[in-house]
Amino acid sequence: MFSFAAVGALLCATLALSAPASPPSTPQGGVGLEQFPSYTITSDFDFASVNLALNQEYIELDLFHHILAVFSEDEFKAAGLDAEDLFLIEYMADQEAGHAILLSNMLGPTAAKQCNYTYPFDSVRDAIDFCQKLTRFGESGVYGFLEHLDNRASAELLLQSITTEARQQMVFRQFEGLFPMPVYFETGITQSMAWTLLSQYISHCPAENPRIQWQNFPGLYIANDPTQGALALEVTPAITHNLSVPLTTPGQQVDLIWEDSGKAVGPDGLYTTTTTAGGPKYAAWIAQLNITYTPLFNITHNFASTHQPIGDVFGPNTAPIVNDTIFVLITDDNPHVTPANLSLLNAHVVAGPAIYQAG
Ligand SMILES: *[C@@H]1O[C@H](CO)[C@@H](O)[C@H](O)[C@H]1NC(C)=O
Ligand SMILES: *[C@@H]1O[C@H](CO)[C@@H](O)[C@H](O)[C@H]1NC(C)=O
Ligand SMILES: *[C@@H]1O[C@H](CO)[C@@H](O)[C@H](O)[C@H]1NC(C)=O
Ligand SMILES: *[C@@H]1O[C@H](CO)[C@@H](O)[C@H](O)[C@H]1NC(C)=O
Ligand SMILES: *[C@@H]1O[C@H](CO)[C@@H](O)[C@H](O)[C@H]1NC(C)=O
Ligand SMILES: *[C@@H]1O[C@H](CO)[C@@H](O)[C@H](O)[C@H]1NC(C)=O
Repeated sequence: MFSFAAVGALLCATLALSAPASPPSTPQGGVGLEQFPSYTITSDFDFASVNLALNQEYIELDLFHHILAVFSEDEFKAAGLDAEDLFLIEYMADQEAGHAILLSNMLGPTAAKQCNYTYPFDSVRDAIDFCQKLTRFGESGVYGFLEHLDNRASAELLLQSITTEARQQMVFRQFEGLFPMPVYFETGITQSMAWTLLSQYISHCPAENPRIQWQNFPGLYIANDPTQGALALEVTPAITHNLSVPLTTPGQQVDLIWEDSGKAVGPDGLYTTTTTAGGPKYAAWIAQLNITYTPLFNITHNFASTHQPIGDVFGPNTAPIVNDTIFVLITDDNPHVTPANLSLLNAHVVAGPAIYQAG
């Protein structure tokens, strides 16, 4: 026996369950929440930025294949890298091919094609060190502009590729036997800073490739380069190593040499270095969240010395601001800039960046 009341109650409960619930209210704010995002790049700023990133993806693709082609398995073995490590490098090349397809699709039919490159190494250890540095400025070069892109939809896709590149950078540090990530924050640099570094390694491009729109600053070199210390370390590949001796120490003297502007650089020498800065006064160190200046001393025409900054990101016993593979430039002034207005530093760059391998 069942009562109509019970049936009625059941029916009501069923109706209540199947009635469309109103969605929880969406918090106000947010950008780029369109229903139909378009990943096509339209603004000049986005095109020029992603064009730079595509050229970076291409060199990585070529570089990873190149090192697998030029060194023998025995040479890799002597550097502590076995067949499985080499497969990982091959897989990283595949990732780069995927990134190049993604960025080309976003840029459309005028997207750049692969170029020819020149590499500064002749041993496995030097090659791994170069990969670690190239992926560092590839990664930091994108962080510098990612949050400034007009199109948030394509920024999302670019983020999803650069996150993979960040992992590659760390693997190369591990292959080199270094501490994998001696920082709290991965730093960003401007497009012009990234292009100044990247253009040194591109020798020739197809004539139809869109021109890179960013500035090339005069070259900067570290005369007493701490990289030599990294390359001399008797360490083997590992997930992590505590280095018994840090590569550099806060306060140590750093000697810098730079070029005059007006030099033909980049693919086919089609680019020219320029500066809008006045005379050299400071070294600017870009690392973690910090843009730190140290005064230059003993300044002659194209040579000066300075001291590695002392200080931690959030005060004593946090991360030293200078650690990892970081960037140093010569500037004519010490404007207060932060990660989101770093491009205001471009006008003050006399030369650089150079890569400084501190830890
Ligand atoms: C130059 O790059 C193109 C495209 O990647 C490649 O096919 C060609 O072999 C390269 N030439 C040299 C000399 O490396
Ligand atoms: C760099 O970081 C590592 C790991 O945290 C630390 O052991 C080392 O002392 C740091 N280097 C400098 C120069 O402070
Ligand atoms: C690694 O370095 C840290 C920081 O200098 C230190 O506290 C720790 O004891 C070291 N560990 C080993 C196993 O060497
Ligand atoms: C100053 O620079 C000159 C080279 O221009 C160098 O020979 C000299 O050792 C430097 N002095 C100091 C204190 O670094
Ligand atoms: C580094 O940046 C952080 C965050 O902006 C700031 O709090 C800190 O004072 C800076 N450290 C130095 C040594 O400039
Ligand atoms: C950059 O932004 C910071 C705030 O984050 C501000 O204090 C600083 O004045 C700005 N720099 C310039 C050159 O305007």
